[in-house]
Amino acid sequence: MVKKITLLQPFMEEGMFRWIPPKTWKYHGLARGDPLLKGNETMKFFIDTANTDEIRKAYEMGVIDGVTTNPSLISKENRDFESLIKEIFQIIQGLPISLEVLSLKFEGMVEEARGLAKMGENIVVKIPMTAEGLKAIKVLISEGIKTNTTLVFSPTQALLAAKAGTTYVSPFIGRLDDISQTGMDLVEQIVAIFDNYGFESEVIVSSIRHPIHVLEAALIGADVATIPYKVIEQLVRHPLTDIGIDRFLADWKKVPKK
Ligand code: E4P
Repeated sequence: MVKKITLLQPFMEEGMFRWIPPKTWKYHGLARGDPLLKGNETMKFFIDTANTDEIRKAYEMGVIDGVTTNPSLISKENRDFESLIKEIFQIIQGLPISLEVLSLKFEGMVEEARGLAKMGENIVVKIPMTAEGLKAIKVLISEGIKTNTTLVFSPTQALLAAKAGTTYVSPFIGRLDDISQTGMDLVEQIVAIFDNYGFESEVIVSSIRHPIHVLEAALIGADVATIPYKVIEQLVRHPLTDIGIDRFLADWKKVPKK
């Protein structure tokens, strides 16, 4: 309760809005439904693709809050990197987009990240979860460059990334499921750890394979799910909705016309 007054009161008095990540509510002495949290209770959806048609369709649907890419997704598009990113920028109008560095050494990562960050204010630089990566995250965060720590496969890797100050951590749940480990257990553990200490790093549930992953991420209270377009489509559709529409249209035809 003391934390709630000291940390939040000044923002309220100034009439300013401050995003308070759900997993830090407990730390701030807040609970769901608290009036101070008005506007803070939204789970974010990113789209996990570099395909401009998919990004456009999801953006127009109004369901996405950002984009994540990786070198494999970029390579699949078979296009010049800069023009591809420019086109994505035009579609997403300032939403965050994660682009990954390829260097493995600290100096190279920092240099590459600075270059990527210059492409736009909405750039989030993806840094692989390594010792060199942790060093780079600290420097980049101190320079005001947002980072997404990627290829996270254990809760303690996520803890290290949060301690380095990363903006986001990306646990890859589908790739864990692929090797017979329950990926979603990892998300649960990361959210609990971040809750315990009030880390502000946001958890992006990544490597999503199907709608149940999105459902479970939401039930756990993860900040973000980054979802392939195919899964967004699967989330939208339900066979009973289609049957219901067909039936309504068929019945409407039976209404006597004047
Ligand atoms: C996340 O940012 C990654 O791009 C992505 O989720 C990896 O997913 P995959 O395991 O399906 O390649």
